Parts: sequence; structure tokens; C-alpha cells
Amino acid sequence: MDIMQLLATRRTYRRFDPKPVPADVIHDMVEAVRLSSCGANRQAVRLVIVARPEDVARVQPLVKWAAYLPAEQGVPAPGQQPTLFVAVVQDTTIPGDLDTDTGIALANLTLAAWAKGVGSCIMGAIDRPRLAQLLGLAETEKLHSMVALGYPAHASHVVPMTESTGIKYYLDENRDYCVPKRSAEEIARYL
Ligand SMILES: Cc1cc2nc3c(=O)[nH]c(=O)nc-3n(C[C@H](O)[C@H](O)[C@H](O)COP(=O)(O)O)c2cc1C
Repeated sequence: MDIMQLLATRRTYRRFDPKPVPADVIHDMVEAVRLSSCGANRQAVRLVIVARPEDVARVQPLVKWAAYLPAEQGVPAPGQQPTLFVAVVQDTTIPGDLDTDTGIALANLTLAAWAKGVGSCIMGAIDRPRLAQLLGLAETEKLHSMVALGYPAHASHVVPMTESTGIKYYLDENRDYCVPKRSAEEIARYL
């Protein structure tokens, strides 16, 4: 897939097939983060891979899905839940703009997964205290986000943002996601 096609289809996915994410995809995601650009090459981002089904099940109640949708539309039903979580953690003993570094790492990670057909949802609405305990994080490690992953069970389309759509994603008649995006003219201008 060419890079623009990859970027257009690498959307947020919230319903998944039960098929597990293979080891080579996990390997690629770790590599994608390891190779990320970061301020002063300080490399403060850490990952905790949650792959065992019993551990994945313990994470499920600690993340919040799709704030713009009613639960029956946005929360994955049993059998459609992600099969893998990756915790994205910052080593706070390392100085720098860790949030920028983490954003770049998240983009690389989710693109590497999508290049092999694995969809993702970056999740910031999470129960950090309980997850930090479950993940065994050190005092100096800050949980930035969880990434939910799996093979998508729905499509997601970018649609033009209009006055009637606003910024909120919605489901169409096929229960596929529609994600309004601002026009190129709105987001970029020439000096
Ligand atoms: C930093 C960040 C935090 C997010 N947190 C959540 C979340 O807690 N729950 C959720 O369902 N989606 C979450 N999302 C997904 C966004 O809702 C999604 O990226 C946005 O609606 C645009 O859709 P797109 O990724 O397909 O472009 C998050 C995305 C980002 C980048």
C-alpha cells in the first residue's frame, strides 16, 4: 500500500475479529517505536505488551470507548473486543518533551500495525491508577495511553467535515465509522 493510502485507511477501529495479533506484528510495532525520532535522541518511551488473553480481559474494563457515541454503538460487544493492548509509558527520569516524543511513537506504532492489516484505537480515557498497578509500572513510569489492537470488524471512512457533521464521528447504515476531517484549505495555507 502506498504511504498516502496507508494514512487514509489507518483510522481508529473499535470492533475486532477474535483472531489474535501475530508475533511478527508485535515485533514490527516495537521496532517502529524503537526507531522513532525523539528530542535529543533521549528515547524515553517504553511499551508494555499485554498479549495473554487473561491479561487482555483484565484491561478491557479499564478503558473507555467512543465518547461521542452511545455505548451500544461505540463499546465493542463481547467477541468484538481487541485481542491485544499495548501500554505506552514514559520514563520520567529522562528529561525532555516526552508528550511530543510519545505522539510520534504512537503514530509509528499504529502505522506499523496497519501496514499488516491490524487496526488500532489509541486510548487516553483510561483508568491510569488501576492500569499502572496491573501493568506493574515503576513510580518513575507514567502511563500515557493504551493502544487497543486487532483485526478490524468494520470499515472506517474519512468524510468531509461540514456544518452539519461537526467533528463528531458517527456510524453509517452499515455500522461503519465515518470520521469528519477538515479540508486541506482549512488546515494549511501558503505564506
Ligand atoms: C491521544 C488520543 C486519545 C484517544 N483516546 C480515545 C479513547 O480514550 N477512547 C476512544 O474510543 N478513542 C480514543 N481516541 C481515538 C479518537 O477518538 C480518534 O482518533 C478520532 O476520533 C479520529 O478518528 P481517526 O483516528 O479515525 O482519525 C484517541 C485518540 C488519540 C490520538
